[in-house]
Amino acid sequence: MSIARTSDVWWKNTVFYCLDVETFQDGDGDGVGDFQGLTQRIDYLAGLGVGCIWLMPFHPSPNRDDGYDITDYYTVDPRLGDLGDFVEFIRTARDRGIRVIADLVVNHTSEEHPWFQASREDPDGPFGDFYVWRAEKPEDGPTGLIFPGVQEEIWTRDEVRGQYYLHRFYRHQPDLNVATPKVRHEIEKIVGFWLELGLSGFRVDAVNFLIEVDGIEEPGDLDPHGFLGNLRAFLNRRDGQAVMLGEVNLEPEDVRRFFGDEDGDELHMCLNFNLNQAVGLGLVRHDAEPIRRCLEALLPLPPDNQWGNFVRNHDEWSLDKLSESERQEVFDAFGPDPAMQLYGRGLRRRLPTMMDGDQGWIRLAYALTFGLPGAPVLFYGEEIGMAENLEIPGRLSVRAPMQWSSGPNGGFSTAEPDQLRRPVVQGAFGPDEVNVADQQQDEQSLLNWMERLIRARKATPEIGHGDWRPLETATTAVLALRYDWEGRTVLVVHNLAAEPAALQLEPGDTSGWEGLSRIFGEAEYRLDAGRVTVDLQGFGSCWLRVRCANDTIRW
Ligand code: NOJ
Repeated sequence: MSIARTSDVWWKNTVFYCLDVETFQDGDGDGVGDFQGLTQRIDYLAGLGVGCIWLMPFHPSPNRDDGYDITDYYTVDPRLGDLGDFVEFIRTARDRGIRVIADLVVNHTSEEHPWFQASREDPDGPFGDFYVWRAEKPEDGPTGLIFPGVQEEIWTRDEVRGQYYLHRFYRHQPDLNVATPKVRHEIEKIVGFWLELGLSGFRVDAVNFLIEVDGIEEPGDLDPHGFLGNLRAFLNRRDGQAVMLGEVNLEPEDVRRFFGDEDGDELHMCLNFNLNQAVGLGLVRHDAEPIRRCLEALLPLPPDNQWGNFVRNHDEWSLDKLSESERQEVFDAFGPDPAMQLYGRGLRRRLPTMMDGDQGWIRLAYALTFGLPGAPVLFYGEEIGMAENLEIPGRLSVRAPMQWSSGPNGGFSTAEPDQLRRPVVQGAFGPDEVNVADQQQDEQSLLNWMERLIRARKATPEIGHGDWRPLETATTAVLALRYDWEGRTVLVVHNLAAEPAALQLEPGDTSGWEGLSRIFGEAEYRLDAGRVTVDLQGFGSCWLRVRCANDTIRW
């Protein structure tokens, strides 16, 4: 791998930024964010250093699952603009050096999708086998509810067709039958369509459910992972640099399968739910041990695959991979009130409120995550320390409008407050206190700090591409990782405790090392006879690059 080749696999070393068009910026004053508004904000994202925008679903939808229930894959929800606005947005983003990916939600459609309407009315017609139908509620097939308490079953009887259909999510989201070649063809057509309009890939929704054949009466010879591999091959035939970032929240060894065999020929990337949950536990305990354990449990990836590491996302903070007592520890610290919890497994809060606004702790969480093996994924508003609005039901509490200024509606929209797609955050974390405009003027703000972190992360391809290993530390409160790549070495050290930590690291092979240069963080450090001394503040971070005698560039 050379520096030049890193641009071929650009997604290994970029910063992703997930946003929902309808809550980002309203450009026409109707209370709903839109592509025109978003396009006005691209320079903000470019300034932040974002390399790739991930758009949450923006297609026509009855919005019973915030757009994850689609009725037409080939156009834009008219409330958000039209295809012309979409192309203008893509073109402007590209001009500023930003790529765009979007959610590919093809495990299911909305029940209002014309395919489902045709399928239920005419079992023998062209769409009759587009969904997973059964004459009787099957005894076999998949089990488990994704939204316990809200969802009652995964098979629902359709009165029109007189049969049961499978829905792994809400009952208004019937699962597509991927054993039907026509369905797989449609999925390729959707992928091909949006690539032509300028997308650089997809965040693939619910991948393990998408490729599941369990429950399909006649799966034929469909090989689930073969299907995923074929989709990847199709995508990269159309655009060799396009990426699939998958949502696969399974145990580490099961997630590994979704990258494909040793060539890594299925998903290019997976969101790292295991590591995200281990980080949560580590933060609460002020102890890096859960993170170290999780890193060791993750199986190595083929060279051209990558993890997507995040702190919070647009859903509840799922802690389902922790043990019951571990989850309870996180609940006790970060969301003791049952109203802050969801589905018995997660928290419907953003980080700053969970950490009582503690700036040191919040920054540590992001520096730590950006320093883990993978590419960072931010959720809009994290860069300014936005909070949730618990008045907004369920998971939507974290999807309040972006806070641009202290003006009306936080600068999100000129509409009347009761016309907004969703109410803004109230109280101490509302737009008066937390907004982009004020933080841009303040050198010490979280926003300016985040900009520096992003700049540092992008300029440290060793983290995105290198081999890594944890280093021994005298205290388990500190996580120290060594990255090696292309003859370059980087040390990344984070202190999860509020108290300072003085460390003597034994980084292993130090031949040729002449000194260390700071990449990020404020710690004192020294290289002395093959040992690295680092004095970290409480919640301190320190990223160091090794200077070698034979370096052709002096860092
Ligand atoms: C995962 C998405 O993140 C979530 O918001 C959605 O409800 C489900 N997939 C169903 O599409």
